Amino acid sequence: MAIRKIITIGDDGLRKICRPQEKFDRRLAVLLRDMADTMYKAEGVGLAAPQVGILRRIAVVDVSEDHAGLIEMINPEIIEKDGEQTGREGCLSVPGRQAVVTRPRHVTVQFQNRNGETIQREAEGFEARAICHEIDHLDGRLYLDVMERELTAEEIQSHIPEDDLE
Ligand code: NI
Repeated sequence: MAIRKIITIGDDGLRKICRPQEKFDRRLAVLLRDMADTMYKAEGVGLAAPQVGILRRIAVVDVSEDHAGLIEMINPEIIEKDGEQTGREGCLSVPGRQAVVTRPRHVTVQFQNRNGETIQREAEGFEARAICHEIDHLDGRLYLDVMERELTAEEIQSHIPEDDLE
């Protein structure tokens, strides 16, 4: 297990368009393991490779409470989306800040797994939000670019349910 350093806003690496991952080898497996470990240690629900300085189209997401819902996505693409949800969003590369962001309520994402097999997965709610957020990272986009407004320190402390934020 290796925890990688998460880069934060101001680092150019977060603004680059990442290249497709073409090799499904041991190095990829190590990177995926490290990314999951790094995400769990930071108590995040998603992490994209550029956040650890690797400009490849790779991301991990796990919105479960017990680390049992890990999704490893290589070369992911949203192929269908519908509905809307407006709620709270943060990012491990933007520490201490949160914003109100509108995302699709439901998405179908297509990606390759660590063996190079093509997978389609449907996601909704918070998982759909996390997937959209991570795929944005692969194109150099941060939630700061698409947010409606930033939350105040007081709002960040409060536990307003996801969809009650306007
Ligand atoms: Ni992020």
